[in-house]
Amino acid sequence: MAEFTRQRGKRQEDNGLGSVLDLLLANARLVLGVTGAAVLAIATLAVKRLIDRATSPRDEGDPKAEQKTLEESWPELALIKATPNPPPKQRREDLSEPLLSPARPPVPGPRVCPAPPETPRLESSPPRCLTLQEKLLSHYSNHLSVPEAQACLVLQLARSICAQLQNFLRNKCPELPFGSLFLSGPLLDGLRALTADHVHLMLPVVLDTALWSLIPGEDTVVRNPQYWMIKRTDLEYFPRGCSPWDRFIVGRYFSSNMLNETLHKLLVASINWPAIGSLLGSVIHPVVASQELKLEVKHDQVELSITLFPVVEMEDKILLAAPPEGLVENLWLESFYRAEVSALKELDAGDSGVRQCCLCILNNICKTYPALHKLAGSPLTHVILHLSAASTDWAEEDLADRFQQVLEELVGYLERGVLPSYFNHKINLFCELSEEEIDEMGFMLYRAVSEPELLLTEK
Ligand SMILES: *[C@@H]1O[C@H](CO)[C@@H](O)[C@H](O)[C@H]1NC(C)=O
Repeated sequence: MAEFTRQRGKRQEDNGLGSVLDLLLANARLVLGVTGAAVLAIATLAVKRLIDRATSPRDEGDPKAEQKTLEESWPELALIKATPNPPPKQRREDLSEPLLSPARPPVPGPRVCPAPPETPRLESSPPRCLTLQEKLLSHYSNHLSVPEAQACLVLQLARSICAQLQNFLRNKCPELPFGSLFLSGPLLDGLRALTADHVHLMLPVVLDTALWSLIPGEDTVVRNPQYWMIKRTDLEYFPRGCSPWDRFIVGRYFSSNMLNETLHKLLVASINWPAIGSLLGSVIHPVVASQELKLEVKHDQVELSITLFPVVEMEDKILLAAPPEGLVENLWLESFYRAEVSALKELDAGDSGVRQCCLCILNNICKTYPALHKLAGSPLTHVILHLSAASTDWAEEDLADRFQQVLEELVGYLERGVLPSYFNHKINLFCELSEEEIDEMGFMLYRAVSEPELLLTEK
């Protein structure tokens, strides 16, 4: 489990007041329902944090917090009580401008009108009184449909680069049985984001299942069910060299780090990108300093980035050579992307639902606001899948209700610091977020629960 979760847990245990607040919160959930409790939870979280800060020993936490005495902190508490808004954490640039607009009382239900004309910041809002439902639909059609020609060009470029890379790998490393490279990502799956600017390039690594087996990350030192290790078996009977991938073994395991390094070197130093670029009427740069295997492509009509993911498919698992940052090496990340997309599509097809539309809008919002970047993609998808399991109605006329419900659920998950994966409840999709990031997202979405159109405001 990530560091922050332990710290959160520890701090709550250490602190009698914290557990009283937790108890209150648990009861509030029974009385107020999830929505009310989630809103209360974020307010309470703020209070808890101030108490933690004021009572934690001076050798812990960040240096600024250490300077604070209890007396200095209480006025801040009074401030929280006096205003329905989150505490002055909003100085952060990330909490985009629209959210700083003067607070209005929370408006119940999805039928919400633009603010009265004296609020200057909302001048650009449509003059007509639009419902949230109408705003969402217009946001979807105005911002989210990537022009067909642009999408085509991007895919055409990506496919050509894919073919060039495949050729290069066959010639340069004929001994390594890579499978056929293929494209992936939201643009290909119809879950188009704001712009058609990113494509994933999947590079299958074909393993002989007689020589390799999977070890769950839970059973290794990382104790993380999101990761797997790929172990070389039967070295006694089939000594080193029997598998073409044996040169990537580190301590009996297939090292994702070593494979990454090899591919990184090939991308950065061996491939003649200027020649390939001029062939395709574009300029292609490998991104040298990136954690990922990344290419940037500039064409006079489009720009795109392509990320290469070595992928192993084994025992019904899809594993990416995307090891976590840190000291532990050789891990493979289980990807649920394919399962996420097909679950969403099947559900929508079953009841003519708008889950994918809702996901597109939310993805777009999370990409627009830096504080919410890390919620885009998988986390949002899993919240929608969880909500679908609770048998809610996803017809088009329910879009605004569902949109608002996703925001409420997100606030609830953030408050707990845990978003269980839809496909494996042991996986916490928030486990790599810091406590700060969680708080920041929580505050922002807490505001948005009562005023969702703030998220749709032009930046
Ligand atoms: C992949 O290798 C490159 C080059 O050594 C490195 O800069 C990058 O951080 C590595 N990525 C991961 C995820 O380890």
